[in-house]
Parts: sequence; C-alpha cells; structure tokens
Amino acid sequence: MKRFITYEFVCGVIGGMLLLGIASVVQAAGDAAAAKENYRELCAKCHGESGKGDGPAGATLATKPADYTDCAHLQTSSDKDLCAVISDGGPARKLSKDMAPFGDVLEEKDILDLIAYIRSFCKKP
Ligand code: HEC
Repeated sequence: MKRFITYEFVCGVIGGMLLLGIASVVQAAGDAAAAKENYRELCAKCHGESGKGDGPAGATLATKPADYTDCAHLQTSSDKDLCAVISDGGPARKLSKDMAPFGDVLEEKDILDLIAYIRSFCKKP
C-alpha cells in the first residue's frame, strides 16, 4: 500500500504539472547527470550502460528491457508512465514484473533525474 501512495503522490505531482501546462518546469527538475550513479548502480545491469537494454542481467530475462536509444519507443511513454514503472514496477503498466519497484529506495528527485537520464539515451540524428 505504501508503494501505491508513493506512486500516486510522486507521479501525480508530475501529471498535475503537465496538466497545468508547466511541463518545462518538470523537465528542468530532472537532472540527467545527477542520475548517472544511481543508474549505474541500480539499472545498468539490466538496461545496459548505454541504455540499449543489453545489460548482463537483462540478457537472461524472458522479457528483455527496452532499447532506450530507440526514440520511437520512448516517445510512446509519458514521464508519468516512466515514473509509474520506476516507482511501482513493470506491472504498473502491464510490463514484466522483472522490472522491480524502486519507489521505496529512490527519492522523488532521483526518479525525475532517472527519467531525464533515460530520455537522454535517445539521440535524434
Ligand atoms: C532485473 C532487471 C532490471 C533492473 C535492475 C531494472 N529494470 Fe527497468 N525494466 C526491466 C524490464 C524487464 C522491463 C520491461 C521491458 C521494458 O523495458 O519495457 C523494464 C522496464 C522499465 C521501464 C519502462 C519502459 C517503457 O518502455 O515504458 C522503465 C522506465 C525502467 N525499466 C526504468 C528502470 C530504472 C530507472 C531502473 C533503475 C532504478 C531499472 N529500470 C532497473 C528490467 C530491469
């Protein structure tokens, strides 16, 4: 239950800001560089150092982590969607349960930073 409240709170704040049309404020709040260490420590083993979903642990999973350098894929998810999965785990958006919930480990700011970091993998030519 705690996780649900965390998700509602953290991701609700993001969604609310988007609704109010101050999305740029949210983007400014996410500091990609600040997320690097958290990403390396908690996420890279599955999602890969370069975000391609090619981390050593990811390779063994039935559902492979998505390729974040694929801009088309990432555009299908809003910040609120990404936040929900990071906070509450894959099942929050009918994705694999191998994507664990990190809402108890990460602060709201950490999650925003990670979203900015993940989005930075997608480089348009
Ligand atoms: C045990 C392996 C594993 C770890 C560790 C892991 N993930 Fe995932 N993640 C997955 C899998 C599997 C999925 C579901 C398939 C996919 O990528 O869409 C997923 C999905 C996601 C999604 C949804 C992608 C989308 O398309 O909407 C996000 C966002 C995400 N992970 C972020 C993270 C972050 C941030 C961390 C570190 C805090 C992390 N993951 C750690 C395996 C992992």
